[in-house]
Amino acid sequence: MSQNIVVLPGDGVGPEVTEAAIQVLIAVAEKFDFSLTFESHDFGGAAIDACGEPLPDETLSACKAADAIFLGAVGGPKWGVHTKRPEAGLLGLRSALNLFANLRPVKLHPALAAHSPLKEERVKGVDILIVRELTGGLYFGEKKREADKASDLCEYSKFEIIRAARVAFEAARRRRGHVTSIDKANVLETSRLWRETVTALHEKDYGDVELRHELVDSAAMKLITNPGSYDVVLTENLFGDILSDECSVLAGSIGLLGSASLGAGTQGLYEPIHGSAPDIAGKNIANPLGAIASVAMLLRHSLGEEDAAKTIEKAIYTMLDEGMRSRDLGGDLMCDQMADAVIGWL
Ligand SMILES: NC(=O)c1ccc[n+]([C@@H]2O[C@H](COP(=O)([O-])OP(=O)(O)OC[C@H]3O[C@@H](n4cnc5c(N)ncnc54)[C@H](O)[C@@H]3O)[C@@H](O)[C@H]2O)c1
Repeated sequence: MSQNIVVLPGDGVGPEVTEAAIQVLIAVAEKFDFSLTFESHDFGGAAIDACGEPLPDETLSACKAADAIFLGAVGGPKWGVHTKRPEAGLLGLRSALNLFANLRPVKLHPALAAHSPLKEERVKGVDILIVRELTGGLYFGEKKREADKASDLCEYSKFEIIRAARVAFEAARRRRGHVTSIDKANVLETSRLWRETVTALHEKDYGDVELRHELVDSAAMKLITNPGSYDVVLTENLFGDILSDECSVLAGSIGLLGSASLGAGTQGLYEPIHGSAPDIAGKNIANPLGAIASVAMLLRHSLGEEDAAKTIEKAIYTMLDEGMRSRDLGGDLMCDQMADAVIGWL
């Protein structure tokens, strides 16, 4: 039986990196003898241009029916001043599919240590999994605007905290057994509920995992000064958005990292963590490895193809070991050539 992947190329470099990653998916499906079908739909700014909405009904219906969704990126200066924004499509999609946990692995490839802005001894061995709560908090709370005043409501329920925390604890069990939960419990009521709830869940079900709590301001510093001390990082929506971009520099380039947004079932939304990179769009110079790492996560979490996922990750590792580099990593390989190199190492 063929598994159905909905592709949302989106804006800017989105179409370039998704195309590169799909070529890798096709090659790995052939190698492991499974069948995939791809269905492409308008999303984000491209959808606003086509029909006036960032998340058209047809796109949403296709996503609901898909085994997995693969997204490039959305946004760009063209839609920056409009009331309908591409990013609203992404929030709407996460919410409609109830994708409450965002997983962002940040692992430094040893051959890229020199690309990190941090000293080599600081970033050596960095291997962090950020679990960000994705459908609650400030981004989804009530928004109000008056002439000279505005507010965004931050709300969390125990239910929302527990389901995200479970993802983090379960992941820690498969990794080095440590969770750092990040909040602002010295100031925010939502953070106090967060801390109490995570602590209670830990005591009840996850005594075998080590749990540490940190405040977001000092954690922002420690993720840079001592990134090696983190295994799984669990945090709420806004803090996770900011900290995961901060951590992306540890790996050497934002173009390298993939992500998975998961709900209760196997369906998920997979995307590189970078944005639409309008400054380099249309030049075939974007690094597609973040998108390719995302399709490896798609194979693992949504399609149950662990061997194929590992094979892609190994191919990325090997091609970087062999010195193959896109421009953001100081090399001269174009986006499609990077994908060809990965396919070559499959
Ligand atoms: N999930 C998403 O779709 C998503 C995420 C972040 C930002 N955005 C949107 O993207 C637009 C641009 O945002 P931004 O400039 O702040 O962030 P960005 O991630 O698009 O770009 C930041 C910098 O990283 C570089 N970069 C990004 N991806 C790269 C890649 N694959 N290879 C090489 N270099 C790469 C860019 O050239 C740029 O210099 C905005 O409209 C923003 O809202 C979308």
